[in-house]
Amino acid sequence: MKKIAILGGGNIGLSLAKGLVNTKKYKINDIVITRRNKAALDKIKLLGFNTSINNCDAVKNAEIIVLSVLPQQLDSLLNEIKSQLTPEQLIISVVSGVSISDIENEIKKKLTIVRAMPNTAIEINQSMTCIAANNVKDLELVVSIFNSVGKTAVIKEELMTSATALCACGIAFFLRAIRAASQGGVEIGFHADEALKMAMQTALGAAGLLIDGAHPESEIDKVTSPRGCTIAGLNTMEHEGFSSAMITGIKTASSRAEGLYKK
Ligand SMILES: NC(=O)c1ccc[n+]([C@@H]2O[C@H](COP(=O)([O-])OP(=O)(O)OC[C@H]3O[C@@H](n4cnc5c(N)ncnc54)[C@H](OP(=O)(O)O)[C@@H]3O)[C@@H](O)[C@H]2O)c1
Repeated sequence: MKKIAILGGGNIGLSLAKGLVNTKKYKINDIVITRRNKAALDKIKLLGFNTSINNCDAVKNAEIIVLSVLPQQLDSLLNEIKSQLTPEQLIISVVSGVSISDIENEIKKKLTIVRAMPNTAIEINQSMTCIAANNVKDLELVVSIFNSVGKTAVIKEELMTSATALCACGIAFFLRAIRAASQGGVEIGFHADEALKMAMQTALGAAGLLIDGAHPESEIDKVTSPRGCTIAGLNTMEHEGFSSAMITGIKTASSRAEGLYKK
């Protein structure tokens, strides 16, 4: 199996590493994770991963290099590693708002660079990962890596910031929706833990119906009887701006993602 260096073992870098190991296709020994904070790195080492505080060492021994630092941390990381990068290596960037040409301009080399936008459900192999590359031949390996930790969609690079909003930020949007439903449940008589359990299983069921091929509105029609309680609840939510809040929130997140790397 190919050696993978994950440069930036924060939320998404570590989640990716855990997800890859869960698949059993990748061995924990094939992955090295870097970050600058030694104490935080030691905690990652306790999980069994190889760790390094030295990005250049990690890059030297890797066939696949994942860039998973914040956009504002990327230039200094690229400056540090650029002399070590070789054309045989594959670079996967999960950094939001940074284009392939931004990376090429910084490293001043033409390398194989693919952008991927996963979400934190990658840790439990349920990520929705959007992938874009300049060169189609580079996609196959990256798609297979991310298919092992969830579902993938190959998209145009210009839509990567939209993918950030809908899928990466989207995890938080759906979590907040589930949390809100559970808080409603508490208002009507359930303890917080049982309300959360009910809300999350209901959300899972709703997603499952759609994954099986149903359309949201036809499933909604099935649960809204005339003068019934569901339509009353749903229309009240719409009067309060439910769909509008989700849509404008996603648009706001997308435009914020667009500007994350701008100097
Ligand atoms: N979180 C998500 O759901 C998600 C989803 C998709 C994409 N992304 C993208 O993934 C990137 C990381 O996001 P995140 O949420 O994982 O952020 P994060 O938790 O802050 O992780 C960034 C990590 O990079 C490390 N780091 C910074 N500079 C470094 C350097 N020079 N060398 C090695 N490690 C370095 C930091 O650790 P030290 O301070 O110890 O160095 C930190 O652990 C962002 O660009 C984000 O847009 C995030």
